[in-house]
Amino acid sequence: MSPILDARTAEYRAYIDQYLADFYRRFHTEPQKSLFEAVEYSLLAPGKRLRPVFAFEFCRLCCGDWKKAAPFAGAVEMIHNYSLIHDDLPSMDNDDFRRGRPTNHKVYGEGMAILAGDALLTDAFAMAASSDLSGKDMATAIGVLAENAGSLGMVGGQVLDIMSEQRQLTEQEVLDIQSRKTGALINAACVLGVIAGGGSETQIEAAAGFAALLGLAFQIRDDMLDVIGTQEEMGKGVGTDAAKNTFVRLYGLEKCE
Ligand code: IPE
Ligand code: IPE
Ligand code: MG
Ligand code: MG
Ligand code: MG
Repeated sequence: MSPILDARTAEYRAYIDQYLADFYRRFHTEPQKSLFEAVEYSLLAPGKRLRPVFAFEFCRLCCGDWKKAAPFAGAVEMIHNYSLIHDDLPSMDNDDFRRGRPTNHKVYGEGMAILAGDALLTDAFAMAASSDLSGKDMATAIGVLAENAGSLGMVGGQVLDIMSEQRQLTEQEVLDIQSRKTGALINAACVLGVIAGGGSETQIEAAAGFAALLGLAFQIRDDMLDVIGTQEEMGKGVGTDAAKNTFVRLYGLEKCE
């Protein structure tokens, strides 16, 4: 990456880390503090913060004031974190490591891990609703967040993913799963960045087009790294998706590259 881009992404990451930490710090005196411990264990663990970075950058491109995207950047990151906690559960991918540490359910138990995910999903909408966007734009933004997270978006993709484990899928089916399970939240991040920045319909469409291709490239790479990466560099177990309909299974490593 260029030095300018490096500096900018570092600034975005530092900002969202603080923003998320501040959001939950307010709740530390609540009696259900074991919930916040489980939430923060995952949410404040070192992730790449890719989705917030794109939300901020699209907002900056549209209006210059990238911090306007913070409630949406944070909300998408919270929904992403909930999806990871649930994705790792024994009843789903049954993974033991995430972001360089034991998965949430390994530390707090399955019940609390499920509730931590539920809390992150729901609190994400409270965070998004704290944006100062006005009426119609706010309604559009909340709709974008819900659609990309829900049964037509990420949740829908996860459903197709677990339902397809027993058979070999076609290329179109793999693309359909990927565009939902991974692409949808990346789409939300980019599009919400534009909306927060007061961008036009044309800019929203451009951001969505970019996000579709980025999401695809991202999942291809994630599937490759499940084969060629190490647990140390990935911070999560590798080889765990061998029985899945990954892009590596579909195309082979060379074509993926
Ligand atoms: C992992 O996402 C799950 C996929 C959608 C493939 P990331 O690779 O963005 O995970 P973190 O946030 O950096 O841990
Ligand atoms: C998970 O995809 C995508 C979501 C959590 C929605 P994967 O199952 O491939 O993600 P990793 O490899 O566990 O991070
Ligand atoms: Mg999975
Ligand atoms: Mg997984
Ligand atoms: Mg994976």
